[in-house]
Amino acid sequence: MTEILKADPAGIARAAELLLDGKLVAFGTETVYGLGALATSDAAVAHIFAAKNRPRFNPLINHFADAETAFKQVQTNELALKLAEAFWPGPLTLVLPRGPNATICDLAAAGLPTLALRVPRGQTTHALLNAVGQPIAAPSANPSGRVSPSDAFHVLRNMEGKIDAILDSGPCSVGLESTVLDLSREVPFLLRPGGVTLEQLTPICGVIRNPDDYATKLPASPGMLASHYAPALPVRLNAEHVEPGEALLAFGTPLPGSKLTWNLSESGDLEEAAARLFAGLRFLDSEGARRGLHGIAAMPVPRHGLGLAILDRLRRAASPRPPAGGDDDLEASLS
Ligand code: TXA
Ligand code: MG
Repeated sequence: MTEILKADPAGIARAAELLLDGKLVAFGTETVYGLGALATSDAAVAHIFAAKNRPRFNPLINHFADAETAFKQVQTNELALKLAEAFWPGPLTLVLPRGPNATICDLAAAGLPTLALRVPRGQTTHALLNAVGQPIAAPSANPSGRVSPSDAFHVLRNMEGKIDAILDSGPCSVGLESTVLDLSREVPFLLRPGGVTLEQLTPICGVIRNPDDYATKLPASPGMLASHYAPALPVRLNAEHVEPGEALLAFGTPLPGSKLTWNLSESGDLEEAAARLFAGLRFLDSEGARRGLHGIAAMPVPRHGLGLAILDRLRRAASPRPPAGGDDDLEASLS
């Protein structure tokens, strides 16, 4: 049984109680819904990997109420402090070397010598973090390799029965995941483009290594599997026409000829497009399959600002994946 909790004091108190008891609670953040467990407990965190069918070598992001508490876990540096000052609370995750007083469990870190830290935005999220009084480990609340959830209904559809509760704080405002920046190396390394853009980071960081390599080279981060965010229907990128039998993921003025269209943003606004991306992939996937369509044509999106994060997710959605053999086979082979 999965309890659906309202974002009111009683719901937040119940969610905190469950988390402190080692249970799994999905909760909204400004980016996507996370699947939360007590980050200090190997036993609690083990439930996350099981519920998501997530490979255990892929570490989790740890969520904190404020920067001060977060930085107690790691060896921090001047750049980390500046970035936290500029972007926390907000959609930025920092990877730093684990500190001597870290309480995050080994499983959450997948045994790595670094930890991923994030201070998310949102009233309910903060109320929950404060009520728990401990870091919460939370990956996106979807089965591993699948499209991330940007509202509570998405979580329910994919995870009902596998998790203890969902704290429903409504749709997520940013709609795609946090930017993951590794500060444990000599030069900051962008592990995943996300809600904070390169244009926002560069004035503070200076050089950032290699925003464009992440999808083509070996994973720099254990979670950078090429095939991810995968809808069931194949995705064709940079479409300049719609083929018969294709649904259309449009950006701006839609291409002609599609019988099923989801427009990310008619006015070409990247923030709106980011917020509508995952809901659009889910819609085209289910509705397209229902109508017997065989693919999704995705129109080009500009390669700047949030466009980089959108393109990253689309590229992964379009990546070749193992032959269909049911969800279990697909997810197992992603590990
Ligand atoms: O917006 C978000 O970041 C959401 C919300 C719930 O906070 N969370 C999320 O978590 O997207 P997840 O698990 O889907 O993605 C976390 C990414 C993975 O690619 C993982 O490999 C990487 O962060 N990561 C975590 N710890 C790491 C570490 N120590 N070193 C390198 N990469 C790490
Ligand atoms: Mg994820």
